[in-house]
Amino acid sequence: MARQLRSIPEGKPFLKWAGGKTQLLPEFDKRFPTELKQKKLTKYVEPFIGGGAVYFYVNQKYSFKHCYICDINEELILSYLVIKKSVNKLIENLDALKSDYVSKGDESRKQLYYHIRDVFNQKKSEIDFHKFQPAWIERAAQLIFLNRTCYNGLFRVNQKGEFNVPFGKYKNPEILNETNLKQDAKILQMTEIILGDFTQFKKFVDKNTFVYLDPPYRPLNVTSSFTSYSRDGFSDDDQKRLAKFFRELDKLGAKVLLSNSDPKNENPYDTFFEDLYSDYTIERVPAKRSINCVGSGRGEINELIITNYRRKI
Ligand SMILES: C[S@@+](CC[C@H](N)C(=O)[O-])C[C@H]1O[C@@H](n2cnc3c(N)ncnc32)[C@H](O)[C@@H]1O
Repeated sequence: MARQLRSIPEGKPFLKWAGGKTQLLPEFDKRFPTELKQKKLTKYVEPFIGGGAVYFYVNQKYSFKHCYICDINEELILSYLVIKKSVNKLIENLDALKSDYVSKGDESRKQLYYHIRDVFNQKKSEIDFHKFQPAWIERAAQLIFLNRTCYNGLFRVNQKGEFNVPFGKYKNPEILNETNLKQDAKILQMTEIILGDFTQFKKFVDKNTFVYLDPPYRPLNVTSSFTSYSRDGFSDDDQKRLAKFFRELDKLGAKVLLSNSDPKNENPYDTFFEDLYSDYTIERVPAKRSINCVGSGRGEINELIITNYRRKI
């Protein structure tokens, strides 16, 4: 695993993100379609981009002519667009926040964090998330700053849509990684970045497309649900909507890989995904759950990998 990852140039997620897939890349790589390795797939589509661990990985290891990424989280998509269009100004903004932070003692750092969080929430109503504007750059810098200095790198909003994660008390958080941001910007140049629901992606898909689907986890139990990436959660009905979408992509001839947490980690009789994806290959791989609201929920669990192109065992 380590050797495989070391050979890849820098260009990694610029945010910590719940459900980030960095640790699973070697398991995914083993299961990527043969056509990808043979360079026959020219399009890459990832409708639940999150931190983009898989996107940054595949784009450095394989090459595509067209890429499309999407997420329903408007702050996240704003940041991807700012990195693509204005990375140098973003770096300046982030550098100023970083200098302010490192010049302070523990208590003042905490005060700075809550001040930036307040500004971020107060300014939200002034932002048009559909049209690039200079204010986006400052906002993306604030999001990265908050993500790096908040508790556990969580992105969580309350009912009013306000970011409400507490201060993280890290000794030496990495607020700015200039090389990584520049490399991410380079990779993003040939990518279309879209805000919205995953279903709008069907129009981009054909038989030369590789689609990676990483929806929000189906909660393993009532206490472990990731308290929303957005105000709208992802229900069992959404999982069913996604399974229908998966079948449509399959009919279009695309190669599709989907991951999710395995409900059998909690309940051996839960066949939710076996029922939804009964026509496809389902494999289980061990994973460490890294962001979880409940401390005791950390530890090893299985992740499901569902593909439409491997032989059903
Ligand atoms: C498990 S995370 C993806 C993590 C990503 N693979 C990574 O490595 O960081 C799921 C993502 O789906 C997004 N999401 C939730 N509902 C969505 C929807 N209906 N359409 C598109 N994206 C959605 C969330 O905002 C979140 O970023």
